[in-house]
Amino acid sequence: MEPWVPVAQVGDIPPGHAARVEIDGVPVAIFNVGGDFYALDDTCSHAEASLSEGDLVEDRYVIECPLHGSSFDLRSGDAVTLPAVEPVRVHQIQVGDDGVLRIALAGENAA
Ligand code: FES
Repeated sequence: MEPWVPVAQVGDIPPGHAARVEIDGVPVAIFNVGGDFYALDDTCSHAEASLSEGDLVEDRYVIECPLHGSSFDLRSGDAVTLPAVEPVRVHQIQVGDDGVLRIALAGENAA
């Protein structure tokens, strides 16, 4: 599989917003913080919740899980508040000159 997968146009996800995409069957959450993009596993490490539906706290670079409120650091994937203790994976994301967001999956799903 080509490692960099096109997922969206930059303008599709305005600052302060999130989107959920699937790459090779893996749900991935994309967040825009002031024009910088971050990509994490969309499924919370605590239970079956979609992080892209949580609250994005831009000044702390965290996403709060919509189900039980754990916060995950957008840059490291670390769970910074309970009840989640396991991190979620961070995926590489880049903005192309063509305005297309592309993601390369991390870990066992990498090409
Ligand atoms: S499902 Fe995310 S904190 Fe419980």
